[in-house]
Amino acid sequence: MSSAQVSAQWIERDKKVVSPAIYRYTDIAFERGEGVYLYDFEGNRYYDFVAGIATMSVGHNHPRVVAAITEQAGKLLHAAAHVGYMGPYVEMLEKLLSLMPVPLDQGKGILLNSGGEAVETAIKLARAVSGRSMILAFMDSFHGRPMGALSLTASSSGYRRHLTPLLNGVEHVPYPTCYRCPFGHKNHSRDNCCGHWRNFIQMTLDKLLHPDDLAAIIVEPILGEGGYVVPPDDFLPSLREICDQTGALLIADEVQTGLGRTGKWFGVQHWNVTPDIMALGKAIGGGLPLGATLARAELMDAWWPAAHGSTFGGNPLACRAGLESIAIIEEEDLVANAARVGDHLQARFKAAQKDLPIIGDVRGKGLMVGVELVNRAGEPLATSQVKQIVKELGAAGVVMTKCGQSALRIAPALSITEEAADEAVQIILKVLADFETG
Ligand SMILES: Cc1ncc(COP(=O)(O)O)c(C=O)c1O
Repeated sequence: MSSAQVSAQWIERDKKVVSPAIYRYTDIAFERGEGVYLYDFEGNRYYDFVAGIATMSVGHNHPRVVAAITEQAGKLLHAAAHVGYMGPYVEMLEKLLSLMPVPLDQGKGILLNSGGEAVETAIKLARAVSGRSMILAFMDSFHGRPMGALSLTASSSGYRRHLTPLLNGVEHVPYPTCYRCPFGHKNHSRDNCCGHWRNFIQMTLDKLLHPDDLAAIIVEPILGEGGYVVPPDDFLPSLREICDQTGALLIADEVQTGLGRTGKWFGVQHWNVTPDIMALGKAIGGGLPLGATLARAELMDAWWPAAHGSTFGGNPLACRAGLESIAIIEEEDLVANAARVGDHLQARFKAAQKDLPIIGDVRGKGLMVGVELVNRAGEPLATSQVKQIVKELGAAGVVMTKCGQSALRIAPALSITEEAADEAVQIILKVLADFETG
């Protein structure tokens, strides 16, 4: 059987047994990965510009991560944190806490299996220890798909279709997505924001949701799935202030922004804001499923024994992979690399805007780069068109996904070099130019 038939066969078999609810951005069957590249069964190489959805920070198949997993697999795969104590679980939390901003660095945590589970743990903790019920979340945010996390997610009504009513007690207010201002202002940017998001929160607290009932505000420091949108500089500090005034807890969902992707260890550090609770996922498992919810020690200490848990949460294999991955990020200074290559990528796309009017906006921080695609009138391209472009990019050798309605989501491994990034950009610009010329 030729390798081409192998790919085709996997795709055919997949379609027979895998639910169509799982959407595929490309028509590629991956056989293996190495560094910033993925390979299909024909041996074709692809620049992985989305790294397993902002996850594979040190690249695919890193020999040190593979060795750490292999070594741990020879000792202990699973015993469950509820049954006894496990070194990798403790080490993982010690490491994550050591990276946290003060005073969260003195906090405590729980390990889970995914970002969505970490988010649900965060809101359970907030409700349980505050004795309050209400959660304030943001339009355009993505916090996961399990029913609790989905109650907070508001990046597309498609995710909620036929599933409502969801969790009671969640109100949504607009996120300051200035390029597409939710209040209808044209030509606004994060440096020139109307600030109406603040009035909207105030109005919500005055008329709808009494501050005494507000358990928590949950926020992505930079919108992920919602379009890689960086908020105005006063946004997160204002949320901190509102929480301090109302006694609500600030939950930062750093599942996507966390662990160096934005050019700092955590997104909130761009604004010197410390949340009370932080949800982590994706990159922390070094490619294996791992989530974490960290909080100030007094909050965790107020949560009673057996209030929460998970059979597999913090399993030794995922912890070891994550710890090795973090060690590589530190030793190779990949957080600084993310900042440097991210700036370079943004500069490349901004420079291309002059000749490619399809590029409406270039934004992000570090290696979270969003490239918003627009039509001749400057309106967002239809989602179906962006999905088509993403498919064509895959076929041309660059794997990525979209975010928001019409943005390309660029989130390669933090270890990517400028040279590799440039090679991928060349391909992307060619595909965009071909699309423009029809
Ligand atoms: C900010 C954010 N929170 C939560 C999640 C959910 O994570 P998971 O898919 O691991 O449940 C995601 C996933 O994309 C995310 O980007």
